[in-house]
Amino acid sequence: MAQAFPPPQLLQDPYPFYRMLRSNNPVFRVPVGDATSPGLWILTRHRDVQSVLKDARFSADRRRASIVEQFQDRLPINAALGEEGGLRSMLLMDPPDHTRVRGLVSKAFTPRRVAELRPRVEAIVTALLDAVDGAGSFDLIDAVAAPLPAIVIAELLGVPAEDHRQFKEWSGALVSAIGSTNPQDARTQFEAALGQLLDYLRAIIAERRKVPRDDLISAMLGAQEERDALSDAELLATSNLLLIAGHETTTNLIGNGTLALLRNPDQFARLRDDRSLLRSAIDELLRYDSPVQATGRVAKVDVDLDGATLPAGALVMTAIGAANRDPEVFADPERLDLGRIDNHHLSFGFGAHFCLGAPLARLEAELAFHALLDRFPNLELASETLTYRANPILRGLVALPVR
Ligand code: HEM
Ligand code: HEM
Repeated sequence: MAQAFPPPQLLQDPYPFYRMLRSNNPVFRVPVGDATSPGLWILTRHRDVQSVLKDARFSADRRRASIVEQFQDRLPINAALGEEGGLRSMLLMDPPDHTRVRGLVSKAFTPRRVAELRPRVEAIVTALLDAVDGAGSFDLIDAVAAPLPAIVIAELLGVPAEDHRQFKEWSGALVSAIGSTNPQDARTQFEAALGQLLDYLRAIIAERRKVPRDDLISAMLGAQEERDALSDAELLATSNLLLIAGHETTTNLIGNGTLALLRNPDQFARLRDDRSLLRSAIDELLRYDSPVQATGRVAKVDVDLDGATLPAGALVMTAIGAANRDPEVFADPERLDLGRIDNHHLSFGFGAHFCLGAPLARLEAELAFHALLDRFPNLELASETLTYRANPILRGLVALPVR
């Protein structure tokens, strides 16, 4: 019995579905494909998600899942790269490759480099808000949430400002393929966009190799010279990953976060009047409506979990958005509480692949919320009909009309 998965109402509000799974079927085999294959599983408990993300019996190389391997020759990246044999960033790697590549990239993408960006991020936020101040109503996604991370990551990587718009288009096409519910459409867009983007990045890498600048690509080229260096293919894959991972995710933190504040006016007022809450508020907004709703791992061997057996080759979806509302871990989980303490949300992942960009995402969100609350202390939703992107993994609004 084939059925569409996920059902469309999941995009609008996945939380009732998560609640139902977590209480009735916390280790759930999704009824897709051949019943004898290792299949696709969803985990919705906090402790199960966390344990899989730190368990070396699971691989991050989703291409090795049996359900994905069936379509190996149709995987968009393979198709777009032709004979080159695929693009694989640290996101799909296990140790020892993961440890080596992540270590080298971390040397270039340091907390200091992020902290130095503060005045620049502030200036970008100011300019974006200047453009809509006095407009009466505007779309917060289009005005701030989308352009801010796009400009910041492009500047950080060292991509010329005049190319930002093009960059945003490519990354939009790529992201729409991650978890897309319309694979065929997404694939065509994806192939074209990825091909162009990679050509573009190759050209920038070649330029920085000749004349280094004070940017992340030059810093990674510096790291390349060390022992156990990054290969050219890894450098390209990393640039691509940073670009994609740095885009829609932060957009969705600002978008989903603002929406949560607007729907909870008491919490909006609380933060507006006490900015010392900003740090815990950002964690709570991340928990409450996570920009990344799930990630995935592949069982390398049969693994027993809570009385079920996840077979070798199974694709295991760790539902971050569900884990973040597990009543075993969070008191009154459906409530937005900006002062929540001991907030062990999993929105940046957990374990070896914990988000490398978390300090940057936090910095951007902090400055964006700060400025929004200063400029628009009486901000309101301008429409009750909201549309979400057709993507159950990267959860975000198409538009957020405010006044
Ligand atoms: C259940 C969750 C996920 C599954 C099953 C999955 C699956 C895959 C697969 C099969 C590929 C290889 C595609 C190819 O070779 O053509 C891939 C690549 C990729 N995925 Fe995912 N993915 C998931 C979640 C995510 C998330 C949450 C992100 C980002 C936040 C992400 C970002 C990427 C990127 C950037 C690539 C390009 C290759 C690379 O950078 O290594 N994926 N994914
Ligand atoms: C609110 C914004 C963001 C969220 C919610 C987020 C979420 C995540 C999550 C859940 C993972 C783990 C994926 C997995 O375990 O399979 C991850 C990994 C990663 N993120 Fe983020 N991310 C955000 C922003 C960023 C930014 C701004 C950057 C970089 C500029 C970035 C770079 C990365 C990288 C490089 C990885 C891979 C780390 C690894 O594989 O070791 N992220 N992110």
